[in-house]
Amino acid sequence: MPRPLHAIIHPDAMQRNLARARSCAPGARIWAVVKANAYGHGLERGMRGFAQADGLGLIETENALRLRELGWVKPILLLEGIFDAADIPLLAEHNINSTVHCIEQVKLLEYTSLYRPIDVHLKMNTGMNRLGFRPDEFRAAYARLRAIPGIRNITLMTHFANSDELEHPRLAIAEQVRRFREGADGLPGERSLSNSGGVLHQAALLSGATGEVQCDWVRPGIMLYGGTPGGRPAREYGLLPTMTLKSEIIGIQQLQAGDSVGYGSRFQAPGPMTVGVVACGYADGYPRHAEHGTPVLVDGVRTSLVGRVSMDMMTVDLSPIPNARVGSKVTLWGDGLPIDEVAQAAGTIGYELMCALAPRVRVAEGRVGSD
Ligand SMILES: Cc1ncc(COP(=O)(O)O)c(C=O)c1O
Repeated sequence: MPRPLHAIIHPDAMQRNLARARSCAPGARIWAVVKANAYGHGLERGMRGFAQADGLGLIETENALRLRELGWVKPILLLEGIFDAADIPLLAEHNINSTVHCIEQVKLLEYTSLYRPIDVHLKMNTGMNRLGFRPDEFRAAYARLRAIPGIRNITLMTHFANSDELEHPRLAIAEQVRRFREGADGLPGERSLSNSGGVLHQAALLSGATGEVQCDWVRPGIMLYGGTPGGRPAREYGLLPTMTLKSEIIGIQQLQAGDSVGYGSRFQAPGPMTVGVVACGYADGYPRHAEHGTPVLVDGVRTSLVGRVSMDMMTVDLSPIPNARVGSKVTLWGDGLPIDEVAQAAGTIGYELMCALAPRVRVAEGRVGSD
């Protein structure tokens, strides 16, 4: 018998969330972001789940090639561009669109003769201060790229630092959009600005505070996987969970007042209580730093983590589920228990939980809400 822990990926929810992204950003084409193994869902599943996207965005050239091998014929975008000159011929051969975010990448393209034209995304740093040319350097970078004979379309892009936080961000979307418009003013080419947060607030982005901004492409990631970058719960945006992590109770302990649980004896029973041992630990990707009180479902009833998460197991309070037994079904996150809620209680974000799903966890596919 296999260990009861398994993840269920919901392809129907992936399709639904993509449709939701489309309805938030009408008229824009969608790069579905499938980096980090499709946020832990598996690259091939990401490709199938987002078959209706206009393109797929990820990080590594080798994974772009894998998408081609798997039969993806639509555009592919390398979100950080190339890491080595040896990748440039692959861009041309396999029709892969590369981000260009620094002068070193421009130079690599200048020194390589392209035997087939390629499309690029030129990235502006509008305040994220990770990748991209400053607004005052952008025009010069554009001109150098434009002068390279093998470069065909240049899409102008930027990335938002606080798209989840419209109320009181340290750096507002409106300010990043203003810098982008100033730096890109008059330059020809399509525009790509929004990640999930931007897409979810596209209506505000396109009018109101920011003024009209051209958005030919959007680049949602987390919303396609049923999470949000922050702010309101995913279901309020009409998003469905795409990954459910399930397990079972494999042991039960009756505690007396003062008994402690697990490594470090961090939890002490305030009175007589029953705890269940769940087959899931940090070696499966469940966060070790999850605090006492992090929500868990046992037989569909909400309860919480007690004690420290260990490598292969964790312990939960069975007080609200008196009929729980060895074999009772446990949901760690997903269908019925939003991943963002678990992440918040554990002091992290849904992105990290999804991406950290360990290779040893069995993965199946099923419809959301099917059990
Ligand atoms: C350049 C770029 N675009 C889009 C995304 C998708 O972001 P999100 O998952 O918040 O939608 C990312 C992810 O970090 C990114 O780096």
